[in-house]
Amino acid sequence: MAIGMKKIPYPVRLNLSRTPTPLEPLSRLSEKFGVDLYVKRDDLTGADLTGNKIRKLEFLLADALAGGCDTVLTCGAAQSNHARATAIAAVRLGLGVRLLLRTRDPDNPPPLEGNILLDRLVGAEIVWLTFEEYGRRAEMLAAEAESLRNSGRTPYLIPEGGSNAMGAWGYVRAVEELAFDLATLPGAQEQPTTIIHATGSGGTTAGLILGVKLVGLNARVVGINVCNDRDYFLRVVGDICQTAIDTYKLELPFSAERDIEIVDGYVGRGYGKAGSEELSLIREVARSEGILLDPVYTGKAFYGMSQELQRNPEVFGGRIVFVHTGGLFGLFPMADQIAPLL
Ligand SMILES: Cc1ncc(COP(=O)(O)O)c(C=O)c1O
Repeated sequence: MAIGMKKIPYPVRLNLSRTPTPLEPLSRLSEKFGVDLYVKRDDLTGADLTGNKIRKLEFLLADALAGGCDTVLTCGAAQSNHARATAIAAVRLGLGVRLLLRTRDPDNPPPLEGNILLDRLVGAEIVWLTFEEYGRRAEMLAAEAESLRNSGRTPYLIPEGGSNAMGAWGYVRAVEELAFDLATLPGAQEQPTTIIHATGSGGTTAGLILGVKLVGLNARVVGINVCNDRDYFLRVVGDICQTAIDTYKLELPFSAERDIEIVDGYVGRGYGKAGSEELSLIREVARSEGILLDPVYTGKAFYGMSQELQRNPEVFGGRIVFVHTGGLFGLFPMADQIAPLL
């Protein structure tokens, strides 16, 4: 807890992540963009558990255990990082895991590579859904939970991305870490900071917004959406923040229009698809800083940030923290697309 800070009313949490993660300067890119650019290495929350999802799962799985669950049920894209982290963490806790994953043709599921390989390796049961069925995922999850209950199991439902009020606590905790990290930098904690990250299902954005308020950090939170659009995320992130405020009686002032900042325009060719602009940027960051971004989330967000900075170097102020939310395993299924750039 930062000095002078009010006690934050965290729910019960399991210790599953390698946290606190480091905050590291990106010196060559800082020079290029003319800002002090840092990266919060949440890709280092674990090797197999790399990324932002395990921070949310520490709270969600604690809740699952408290409720006597024996099987975790969640959903996502075929190469979902959230599904992979959930599967591995659940198995580590001795729980069963069932994943509802979307694919074009459930009779011909995608190859065993990247995250899917790891899901299967730890023994997750995978149910393949069509895109149309995935559009009704709340209903599909409820039906799957019912069938698990009918077979004598006790399921715990985690929504897409672990993005709900409980999961958001993971990023409240990350802001608390960040406050400590920033206190050691030149200009210290008082200097305004912009926290930039990829927004995919909204829970990380919501947690960061709530965290900045609860910790009292002088920071602006900017999400760069990798799917859907700004209006969609004002609604989704707004709902998560408001539910958390109501459920945990946080007594925080909150307005979706004022507090949620989403920079739209970088979805590119669509969710999960990367073009040569984003892949070239991933190569540049790898070669200049030795940092590996992924093509679905962090590569797109970093690309969006760099485009905005090239247009206006002052757009995010003098100090930026880019949250590296992981996703490394998503690089491997795109090897064929990346190869021509190397
Ligand atoms: C690597 C990575 N980064 C960022 C995100 C976005 O986080 P959120 O779903 O909380 O918006 C996700 C998941 O969607 C992810 O897997």
